[in-house]
Amino acid sequence: HLDILTFSCSFWFRFHYMVVFMGCLLYFIFTFYLLQLQFSKKYGSVFTVYFGPKKAVVLAGYKTVKQALVDHAEEFGGRYVSRVADDINQQHGILFSNGDNWKEMRRFALSNLRDYGMGKKIAEEKILEECQYLIEVFEKHKGQPFDTTQPMNHAASNIIAFIVYGSRFEYSDPQFKGMVNRANENIRIIGTAPIQLYNIFPWMGKWIKTVKLLKNNLEVQVNHFRDLIDQLKTSLNAEMCRCLIDSFQIRKQKDEDSCVTDSLYHEENLLKVVSNLFAAGTDTTGTTLRWALLLMAKYPQIQFQVQEELRRETGSRQVRVEDRKKLPYTDAVIHETQRLASILPVAIPHVTTQDVNFQGFFIRKGTTVYPLLTSVLHDDCEWETPSTFNPAHFLDKQGRFVKRDAFMPFSAGRRACLGEGLARMELFLFFTSLLQRFRFTPPPGVTEEELDLTPAVGFTLNPSPHQLCAVSIV
Ligand code: HEM
Repeated sequence: HLDILTFSCSFWFRFHYMVVFMGCLLYFIFTFYLLQLQFSKKYGSVFTVYFGPKKAVVLAGYKTVKQALVDHAEEFGGRYVSRVADDINQQHGILFSNGDNWKEMRRFALSNLRDYGMGKKIAEEKILEECQYLIEVFEKHKGQPFDTTQPMNHAASNIIAFIVYGSRFEYSDPQFKGMVNRANENIRIIGTAPIQLYNIFPWMGKWIKTVKLLKNNLEVQVNHFRDLIDQLKTSLNAEMCRCLIDSFQIRKQKDEDSCVTDSLYHEENLLKVVSNLFAAGTDTTGTTLRWALLLMAKYPQIQFQVQEELRRETGSRQVRVEDRKKLPYTDAVIHETQRLASILPVAIPHVTTQDVNFQGFFIRKGTTVYPLLTSVLHDDCEWETPSTFNPAHFLDKQGRFVKRDAFMPFSAGRRACLGEGLARMELFLFFTSLLQRFRFTPPPGVTEEELDLTPAVGFTLNPSPHQLCAVSIV
């Protein structure tokens, strides 16, 4: 059984050019991860592909991905920094940095996420407060069809804003709207073919329009973040730390006072940490919630069961995090949404930090690695009905919630999502608050069967453009 593909010379050339072509056109877009899935069925759980001259290893299936990311966490724990990621981050921040910079910024962000929210009452209060603003927006549509994208992203972004800046923004604030729109546009652009062409052949950058657009967007975004950081600086008080930015500035000052020459607490890192948290924490949560509402509209019987459970267990009072254990069906629906939607199908590419022997194959240090998360979330050895929306995947015969090892939408190992705790809280509270208040249906004239579950092209897998009706049930 061959896990790593070795090609004969002539086949290699054909394959090479085929993948250059595919890589240019399909890399990272929807069909590309499907192509990888197809390959994994044919060639096994570890195989090699070439993007132009660049070699990459794809890992597929629960056992292989877990073995690599968890059992060989160190070796597979580097981040691959593509040309465009390097232009954006210059090895600063968390998402696209490595080594000591990554370690320190990840540790700093995690401890701040804990201080200002994750797993704490304070984050719960802020999310519940945001739910009310979101409900107001939904109510304004009076049961008429609308696109849920913007309100969902605004709500998710405000939770990050609370942790990073210590305050939320009005949804009508033009600066805030601009920031969220740019972040979404960038995520969409990064997933497109021309940007991947630029990654493979950087010299082509000057002719590619979207590279310019992306760079312009990023410049405006960084200036916006810089203004907000400067505003907070004017009222900084070391005795009263309000948010992650304050905490960073206080540490920066401390290092300066102690004449630390190689301090990592400098402005570039602050700007990149802030923009990484907004980029990683907005579209992901917003997109998952949009999938959840779309699936509710498509499967009204499942929606009805969620609402029945909510009515039975919590009545009309506000749902709290501690209610989760009393709501196994609702919890299962949220997990199943994440499993089926698999919004980051290839995680964010990794790189090997050292030579590694894996499943009997030699992978050289510096090799790009794609952990195919979608192949884990749809692994037919792990899931009874991998392609069907089936909340029973997370329920036992008595209807109790069961954890599943192959549930890995946040990835695993050293690079696993650092916002998982916060994201899980957001998904639960936003979803239950909306379902207590509204029944979601297709627009008039569209049947449930006609609601399309085909994902749209992008770095994250979004639902295709659609509208839903939020019909008040209170
Ligand atoms: C990384 C998923 C929400 C911050 C990741 C990765 C995945 C992921 C798959 C890549 C892991 C890897 O490379 O192996 C998700 C999903 C979310 C979500 C599905 C919501 C449903 C959030 C939130 C935040 C966040 C709310 C911020 C508070 C990050 C950061 C990284 C990351 C900073 C980079 C970690 C590193 O490179 O060390 N996320 N995420 N994510 N996520 Fe999330």
